[in-house]
Amino acid sequence: MPNPQEDIAKLRAEIGKHDRLYYKDATPSIDDQAYDRLKTELTTLEAASPEFNFSESPTQSVGDDRLEAFESYTHRMPMLSLDNTYSMEDLIEFGRRLEKRFPEQILNYLVEPKIDGVAVSLTYEQGKFVRAVSRGNGTEGDDITSNVRPIAGLPNTIENAPDLLEVRGEIYMRHEEFERINAIREAAGQQLYANPRNLAAGTIKLLDPAEARARKLDMVLYGVGACEPARFFSHQAEIQQKLKGWGFSVLEKIWLTDGMEQAWQSIKELDSLRQNFTYPTDGAVVKLDDFRLQDEAGFTSKSPRWAIAYKFEAERAETLLKEISLQIGRTGAVTPVAILQPVQLAGTTVSRATLHNEDEIRRKDIRPGDTVLVQKAGEIIPQVLGIIESKRPADSQPFDFGAHLESLGIIAERDPSEAVWRITRKDDPIRQQRALQHFASRACMDIENLGTAVVEQLLSRGLAKNQADLYTLNTEQLLGLDKFAEKSATNLIAALEVSKTRALWQLIHGLGIPHVGKQSAKDLEAYFESLDAIASANEEQLEEVDGIGSIMAQSLHAWFTEPDHIILIDRLREYGLNFQSARIEMGDSALAGKIFVLTGSLPNLTRSEASEMIEKVGARTSSSVSKKTDYVLAGEASGSKYAKAVKLGLQILDESDFHELINAS
Ligand code: IVH
Repeated sequence: MPNPQEDIAKLRAEIGKHDRLYYKDATPSIDDQAYDRLKTELTTLEAASPEFNFSESPTQSVGDDRLEAFESYTHRMPMLSLDNTYSMEDLIEFGRRLEKRFPEQILNYLVEPKIDGVAVSLTYEQGKFVRAVSRGNGTEGDDITSNVRPIAGLPNTIENAPDLLEVRGEIYMRHEEFERINAIREAAGQQLYANPRNLAAGTIKLLDPAEARARKLDMVLYGVGACEPARFFSHQAEIQQKLKGWGFSVLEKIWLTDGMEQAWQSIKELDSLRQNFTYPTDGAVVKLDDFRLQDEAGFTSKSPRWAIAYKFEAERAETLLKEISLQIGRTGAVTPVAILQPVQLAGTTVSRATLHNEDEIRRKDIRPGDTVLVQKAGEIIPQVLGIIESKRPADSQPFDFGAHLESLGIIAERDPSEAVWRITRKDDPIRQQRALQHFASRACMDIENLGTAVVEQLLSRGLAKNQADLYTLNTEQLLGLDKFAEKSATNLIAALEVSKTRALWQLIHGLGIPHVGKQSAKDLEAYFESLDAIASANEEQLEEVDGIGSIMAQSLHAWFTEPDHIILIDRLREYGLNFQSARIEMGDSALAGKIFVLTGSLPNLTRSEASEMIEKVGARTSSSVSKKTDYVLAGEASGSKYAKAVKLGLQILDESDFHELINAS
């Protein structure tokens, strides 16, 4: 029996999950087209059963990117979404609706590139830039001013401007920058970002503006939100001119057309040009040009009736799958990668694609020698959609994951609870090598001069098998290695010595505990404050930490109770590695243990500089104001947190009070 209520509930939950992954975590697990399909399916089901409550449905909202750690800000004019379509018929239908509404008028449509970036709203007051806010839930977004201010194409002041102006556009990352950052991450053994959009979305939500500045973002502006006086603009096309004159980066090309037929021709032209644009363009936005008509057409609950987005299908190409290569990660996990005959796809040459895991290969029956269909949606790492059966060689054999591992001399087992094969023997040289490389990487103990070649030699000569062994090395032993002279040997010994003082989270991350990444390591440090406390915690206690779920808790507990690891930890302690969170050592400072909340932007200090000063005196920062808060450090444009602090009667400091307080302690 079909049960529409159940189907609707299931789809709503599934789309809700994808919304969270896309907007909040910036790590979508499906491509846009697959997501749009789910949404269309839900819209159809809902239309057939109007009796089910719609107010909570993802079809009625624009997602939500707000995060607890940011100050939120209410848009003067909401930031809505656009109706999406992949079909020309829908586009024509959209035009017909408007023609019906405005008969006897020639409707001018403006065709613009649809940028696949992260929406932003910039507020100018009396011509001065005051704030950048993310879309949030459309009504209220996060104040991301500190991370947006350094982006090129954002003028600080604009001449002859309206008294109040919200400028709307998209933040994006260029392909070269995306690849530069991923290359660094790959070298450090960190997980790669799937596409520039996710990386841009993650970057504007970094809590440390210095870290955000180190990644180059770009911005393109195409619209206005609130504007006072209101009648500053009369046509959409004018906005582009005006924004350009004020010094904003604007769209490279827009088309002002007479009627939908011309608009469609322009969309086709846009499609042929878009690969040469600096920003990723995944479609066209068609807007009524005349603002009077826009006002009359109005809005539905989530999108304007005077605009529509036409999205281009993701690009696909056929190519030969030359081989399936197996890559080994820091915990010994084996990941299959498709090595492809290089093929041009969406403006880049694709020669590798992810295959996820054994089950995925089996489900799609992917075999070396197959001709496969690869897709690049947005800029997501290419995926193998499936094989072209008619092109399969006659002698083709199914891919046997286990046998392939064996033929490569890799001894791995498949974890029954996961789809992952892992090298489980700790004395396996490949695994040891990955573990040492990870430990030494920049995101962990940051040991300079301990690169792949050195790690390989240490292992093959039996000088170091695990992390603790590194700290027993001496100059003489190192002098025996290839290309090692007195200076390089002393440098490495010095780098090892320095690494003993790294922050506790770097050590936790460096241990290579399955599922435990950088952020979890930081969360663990903040909560437990010492490695010993983490090691002796049970699963229940571990799960109390925000951000640590049951899988991670289990993994941590299993790791720390393994006899080899107990010995490893004892040795690391004996060699003098830092096992404590820095603030504990400051136990006698007057501010030790105090809780600070930062809000708004300070005249001279960045958030991370202020946090660092707070941590140095043994205090800590929290993202929300509560009765437990000791001090609120408030800068310019502080909003709801400030108001709450006043209400609770908390001690509020400006930058100079803050310096005084810190110096006194
Ligand atoms: S106009 C009332 N124009 O796409 C909404 N949006 O899917 C008016 N976008 O929220 C939006 N390029 O973040 C407009 N040329 C363009 C755009 C564009 C990208 C984004 C924007 C919007 C989303 C809707």
